Amino acid sequence: MRSFTRSLNRSRQSLTRADRPRTFALGGREWDLLDEVFAPVYSPSTGVGLDFLGLNDPRPADTDRREAAVTTAFAPDVSGRRGSFLEIGCGAGVIAVTAALAAHGPVVACDISPQAVENTARNAERHGVQSRLRAVCGDLFGGLDDGERFDTVFWSSNYVLGPADYVYESVHERAYVDTGYQAHRRYLEEAPHRTTASGAALLHFSSRGDVALLHRIAAESGRELRTLAACLVQEGEYGNDLVEHMLFQILPAPRSRRA
Ligand SMILES: C[S@@+](CC[C@H](N)C(=O)[O-])C[C@H]1O[C@@H](n2cnc3c(N)ncnc32)[C@H](O)[C@@H]1O
Repeated sequence: MRSFTRSLNRSRQSLTRADRPRTFALGGREWDLLDEVFAPVYSPSTGVGLDFLGLNDPRPADTDRREAAVTTAFAPDVSGRRGSFLEIGCGAGVIAVTAALAAHGPVVACDISPQAVENTARNAERHGVQSRLRAVCGDLFGGLDDGERFDTVFWSSNYVLGPADYVYESVHERAYVDTGYQAHRRYLEEAPHRTTASGAALLHFSSRGDVALLHRIAAESGRELRTLAACLVQEGEYGNDLVEHMLFQILPAPRSRRA
């Protein structure tokens, strides 16, 4: 729970810090940042997510300190296409917009925060991909049409565990913590139903979350987590903690192991 308290403090500080920018640079591009939206400048996770998805090309100089095992599973096909892409929890839209720029399409970006949806739409326009990217507001898959399926489903989640009975004080706190891993449980259950037959349901998680509990929830939901990529990141704000980030693929558990 120490991590929970720290994350809530960090959530609050990131909204009011004097150095909170209106625009920022990431992945070689400039981005707008609206009030109340998760700020990628105070956390390495957005850049790591780009790396995991093979979208940081060329990878910036600061990634040489990461022991990354970047997956190549999302390389373009012979025609240069990368398939349809759903991002849950798009925040300012860096990953979804970069996916659209990198030939993923169509791209749908969802967030439970209306400000994040507006921010993503604004960044899609800034980079000229508004015709290939739809930004929708909803709780996980709640903003999608019933039959919509995607080649890649991705969530860079709020991996810090909060008490199940904590009541969020703002939608912004949801970018940092998940109470009782209730959203993670639903994501593990629902994400594989939102992929195409050959598609992949993915979760970007970190060692600041409870990895053992996540695996237990996956097993209870009839899922298995396969690690596609992992890297160690020095996170200065945490007293130079070495934090492991991992990209999981969510698969049906073998019948013999289903709970
Ligand atoms: C760690 S932030 C990542 C933001 C963005 N993808 C990035 O990398 O900069 C997690 C995002 O998930 C969103 N989120 C949290 N719970 C959600 C839910 N139940 N449904 C949809 N989005 C959610 C938050 O609002 C936040 O924007």
